[in-house]
Amino acid sequence: MTDYPVTMDIEPEVQAFFDEATNTISYIVKDPSSQSCAIVDSVMDIDYAAGRITYDHADELIAQVETQGLKLEWIIETHVHADHLSAAPYIQEKLGGKIGIGSNILVVQDTFGKVFNEGTEFQRDGSQFDALFEDGDSYMIGTMQGFAIATPGHTPACMVHVIGNAVFAGDTLFMPDGGSARADFPGGDAGELYDSIQKVLSLPGDMRLFICHDYGPGGREIAWETTIAEERESNIHVGGGKTREEFIAFRTARDAQLSMPKLIIPSIQVNMRAGEMPHDGQGNMSLKVPINALK
Ligand SMILES: [Fe+2]
Repeated sequence: MTDYPVTMDIEPEVQAFFDEATNTISYIVKDPSSQSCAIVDSVMDIDYAAGRITYDHADELIAQVETQGLKLEWIIETHVHADHLSAAPYIQEKLGGKIGIGSNILVVQDTFGKVFNEGTEFQRDGSQFDALFEDGDSYMIGTMQGFAIATPGHTPACMVHVIGNAVFAGDTLFMPDGGSARADFPGGDAGELYDSIQKVLSLPGDMRLFICHDYGPGGREIAWETTIAEERESNIHVGGGKTREEFIAFRTARDAQLSMPKLIIPSIQVNMRAGEMPHDGQGNMSLKVPINALK
């Protein structure tokens, strides 16, 4: 396994912003020793029925960065989300910073370039992003180091980001009572997801773990912070030493019963472009709805 540069002695300040429309949690992660910060998994608001986009959630993040006098260095996408749209380019325009995602974005762009029958103007080389992370790649946010762990399974480009003693799990793990994300999207794989989760669970037990989505199972309050040790012990899908075979059987049966996320059609088209809206031939922002193309 890759030798990851774990540094438990750095404790970033983590501010969470819950988006009620999509149950997404976005984060501002601040270096305790400087004014530098990163944003993880931002959200652009969409009224899909009306074909209207707005930026209330992103504006809240931007206002916080500005009010606190922070310097935004990174805008990180843990993966190509299928249930919400990223606001990365909107935030970058206002605050700067580099947009980064896993290098397997090329696989996602190739797969969905076909699904959405994109023309040659849609580059499938990841060039819409400023940085493509490989497994184990590290980067700086002021004086603190972050690094990426490749965690394919939910999607090919999934990465978990570790910044000091804080882990940003994306969809690789949910809260212990929420389990794990589905593995049946194109390029997803339940066995691969299990292996990826084991990599994350091998991090130090007292690392803080922040998740990307929470739905408050059983009516509990929305939550987003746990620890690696808690996930190891009690995650309902993988905790307590569940085997790979058990996980694959459970995940496959469960995924067969799930319907598509409400926003998958707009989300993929926008997020595979790093959060930019696609355009029609006349330069107008426009989305496609391919018929019977998503399996
Ligand atoms: Fe996701």
